[in-house]
Amino acid sequence: MLSTIERRLSATLRDARRTAARRFFVDRQTGLWRSELAWLGVRSRDHARVTAVLEETPDTRTLVLEPPRGWVPHRPGQWTRVEIELAGVRTSRCYSLSSAPHDPELRITVKRVANGRVSGRLHTLRVGDALRISPAEGQFVLPTHPVRLLLLSGGSGITPMRSMWRALLQSDAADVVIVHHARTRADVIFAAELEALATRRGFRVVVRLDDEHARPGEGGFDVGALRTAVPDLEEREVFVCGPPAMMRRVEAMGLPRLHVERFAAMPRPAADPDATEVLVTLGGHASPGGRTIAARTDGALLDQLEAAGERPASGCRMGLCRTCSCLKRSGTVRHAISGAISDAPDEIIQLCVSVPCTDVELGPIVQHAVHAAPDERASERTLDPREKLARRSAQKVDPR
Ligand SMILES: Cc1cc2nc3c(=O)[nH]c(=O)nc-3n(C[C@H](O)[C@H](O)[C@H](O)COP(=O)(O)OP(=O)(O)OC[C@H]3O[C@@H](n4cnc5c(N)ncnc54)[C@H](O)[C@@H]3O)c2cc1C
Ligand code: FES
Repeated sequence: MLSTIERRLSATLRDARRTAARRFFVDRQTGLWRSELAWLGVRSRDHARVTAVLEETPDTRTLVLEPPRGWVPHRPGQWTRVEIELAGVRTSRCYSLSSAPHDPELRITVKRVANGRVSGRLHTLRVGDALRISPAEGQFVLPTHPVRLLLLSGGSGITPMRSMWRALLQSDAADVVIVHHARTRADVIFAAELEALATRRGFRVVVRLDDEHARPGEGGFDVGALRTAVPDLEEREVFVCGPPAMMRRVEAMGLPRLHVERFAAMPRPAADPDATEVLVTLGGHASPGGRTIAARTDGALLDQLEAAGERPASGCRMGLCRTCSCLKRSGTVRHAISGAISDAPDEIIQLCVSVPCTDVELGPIVQHAVHAAPDERASERTLDPREKLARRSAQKVDPR
C-alpha cells in the first residue's frame, strides 16, 4: 500500500518537475529570445517593435510600432492585448489601436494612470524595444456600410476613434460628428489632428473642455450640450468611449444605435440579500487535495478568489482579454454581463465575469504575483519543496 502511494507521489513529482522545467527553461526562454530577436530587428510573429514614441499630452504617449510578422490588419476600433513582464510575471492589458488598418505602422496611445503598472512601464519604452501584442480583437468597430456617425469620447477614450476617423478619411461619403471631452486644452489628445479634421468635408469637430465649458464642480459631459451640438443625434450611429461617469450618462439617454467601449470594468453591483453560499474547489492547488473556499452567488469568482487570498491572473476584468480563463470542471456559473449560464462540465470560463450559482470545481488557475512578488519569495523560503515547485509552476505562465 505504502509503496503504491510512494510510486504515485514520485510519478506526480516527476511530472511536476518536467512541467516546471518546460515552463521555466523552454517557454520562458523562447519568449525571451523572441523579444531579443525583435530588438535586433528580426521580425517576430508576436512582438511588435517600437519605431517612434510621440508625446501627445503631458500624460499620454503614442507608441508607433512595426507590426509583428504576419499581422492581420485590424478593423477600425479594435484593440490588442499588450503583454509585458513585471517583477518576473507576464502581465497583460488591452489597448485600442489608434492607427487605421491602412496605415503602414501600428499605434497604441497610452495614458499614464497614477500608480498604473502597465501604463507606467509602457511610458518607459524607447525606440527599438520589443512589445508582445496579440492579434486585434473587439466588436467596437466601424460599420462596413456608410452611415451617419457620432464619435463621442472623453480623455483616452479618443484612441479607437482615431482609428475610425482615419479609415473614414479614405471615403468620400463621410458624415461624421466628433465630440471629444478633455479636462483642459493641454489634455486634448490628437489636438492638431482634430483641428485639421474640422476643415475636411464630411467632418464636424466639437471639443469640450471641463475648465472652459463645464459649470464649476460638474463633470465635463452634459447631455443638453450634446443634444444642442448634435441635433440629429438620434439618427446617427453613436460610438462612445470615455470615463465611467460619462458612459453611464450616455447609456441612460436611450439612444437607438449606441456602441459602447469600456476601458475599465463597471462598478460591482450591490450585494444581493438573497445570495447563498456555495463552495469553490480550486484544482491544481498546492494544498493537498486542492483548496476549497466559500463563495457567494452574487459576486464574480475573480473578486471572491482574490478576497480569499488567491491571485488569479487578470487583465481587463470585464470578460474581454481572456487572461483569467479557467477550466470549470463542474458546477454552474452565470455570466455577469450577458446572463448566459454555463452548466456543462469542462467548459472554459472567465473568472472575472463568472458568478457561481452552485458549488463549482475549477481546474488549475494561472496565478499573478505582481504586487506581492518580493514578499512571495520571502514566504516561499519556508515552504515544503513540493509546494514551492507546484506554486512556481502555476506562476509565470503565459495564460493563452
Ligand atoms: C478594450 C480596452 C481598450 C483600452 N484602450 C486603452 C487605450 O487606448 N489607451 C489607454 O490609455 N488605456 C486603454 N485601456 C485601459 C488599459 O487597458 C489599462 O487598464 C490602463 O492603462 C491602466 O492599466 P495599468 O496597468 O497602468 O493600471 P493598474 O495597475 O491596473 O491600475 C489601475 C488603477 O488601480 C489602482 N491600483 C492598482 N493596483 C492596486 C492595488 N493593489 N490596490 C489599490 N489600487 C490599485 C492604480 O492606482 C490605478 O489607479 C483599455 C482598456 C480596455 C479594456
Ligand atoms: S481579466 Fe480579462 S477576461 Fe477576465
